[in-house]
Amino acid sequence: MEKILNYNTDLYNFKKYFEHFFECDLEHIHKHYGSKDFEWDGHEIPQNKEIGDVVELIFKDMRSNFEFQSMWKLFIKDIVKEQYFKEPMLHQRLPSFKIIPSGASCKYSNIINRNGIDYSAHRDGDHPYSHPRWEINFWMPLTKIEENNAMIVEGDDGIFYPKILNYGQVQVFFGNKKLHGPPVKNISKITRFTMDFRCLFANQYDESILTDKLILSRGKWWPQKKYFTKELYYDE
Ligand SMILES: [Fe+2]
Repeated sequence: MEKILNYNTDLYNFKKYFEHFFECDLEHIHKHYGSKDFEWDGHEIPQNKEIGDVVELIFKDMRSNFEFQSMWKLFIKDIVKEQYFKEPMLHQRLPSFKIIPSGASCKYSNIINRNGIDYSAHRDGDHPYSHPRWEINFWMPLTKIEENNAMIVEGDDGIFYPKILNYGQVQVFFGNKKLHGPPVKNISKITRFTMDFRCLFANQYDESILTDKLILSRGKWWPQKKYFTKELYYDE
């Protein structure tokens, strides 16, 4: 069942965490880093001479920063588990984040048009992502979402629905089987910054269905059965 979760943005201040690295409001990243078009994987903002590869810097920090780890763990326990799973679950070890600077185009997968807007629509279970079928998607905007920069998700009726969420809300949806994706071009005046991650009911994890087929993650190819494991990808 799709659902919207709510959280306290002062308590789980992911926005502040990311702004520390960019040294500006997330809304204004394009003013400091430019608005280059790109073809996934959503992190390809231009480099900053003084900071360097800020995205790599963030992932590196997430792994070792005690404050971030406690905020993330608490968020999973008190928001995701409490409001959604209510029983043992696994979660993506670290969240992903996607940045589409104001004015930039981000094109990947097939393009579908809804109400005159082009979207990069895909299913996470399809090639080249091949995410396991047990995953449930969680998506949360850290900047303002309006109709023209909302993610769309295919409903059970086959119709696409824009997810217009406020900062402080999390959209739960089934991106493994349902087509979904962001608009190709960010025509809004602000950079679009969203966080996403996947979770599952612990009892649905079944390593035996994972195969040798190659999956693409952040520009690298991995055998599926080496990637979606409790050692690398999921955490309790
Ligand atoms: Fe996706």
